[in-house]
Amino acid sequence: MLKFFGFLCVFVVIFSCNSSEKRATIIDGTKTYEVYKGSEMTTLMKAMYAYNLQLKKDIKLGKTPTEFPREFLNIHTAELSDSKSRNETFEQFSGQFIDAEQLVFIEDSQLSVTERYNNAINLCLSCHKTECTGPIPKIKKLLIK
Ligand code: HEC
Repeated sequence: MLKFFGFLCVFVVIFSCNSSEKRATIIDGTKTYEVYKGSEMTTLMKAMYAYNLQLKKDIKLGKTPTEFPREFLNIHTAELSDSKSRNETFEQFSGQFIDAEQLVFIEDSQLSVTERYNNAINLCLSCHKTECTGPIPKIKKLLIK
């Protein structure tokens, strides 16, 4: 059990941007665990990650994605964790990312679905390079090689 929690902590440190500020402490009997507490944006990001992981699998199986998940538009309004602000760079990257992700679902395009999908993932990466570098290795795994 302890090993499991140890693993969880390592996971948090590797994959989030500023983990030290986003933790809550849970006291369970005699032990104290540091537990990760995320913002609305964190929840959305995790959902976008999971969605794109599935999308990658589907594309590799030759399935054509049909419907852009409208929840992604929440990137324009979701609350960020305290230490982050919705600055101009963020707005610019979120707009570019949404445009690219929408293109994945458009049928007749000059680019193959794999290229359009990778373009969208590269925009996840572009934004992350500017302010949230922690999850970059994880996001890179979404790219279709
Ligand atoms: C416009 C900038 C931007 C774009 C585009 C973006 N992210 Fe993020 N991402 C962030 C920010 C900022 C955070 C930190 C959120 C917070 O602290 O509230 C974050 C957090 C994350 C996290 C960490 C969540 C956690 O557990 O702490 C993951 C994973 C992630 N993003 C994956 C992705 C993926 C996958 C995409 C593309 C499908 C993507 N992001 C697109 C800015 C972006």
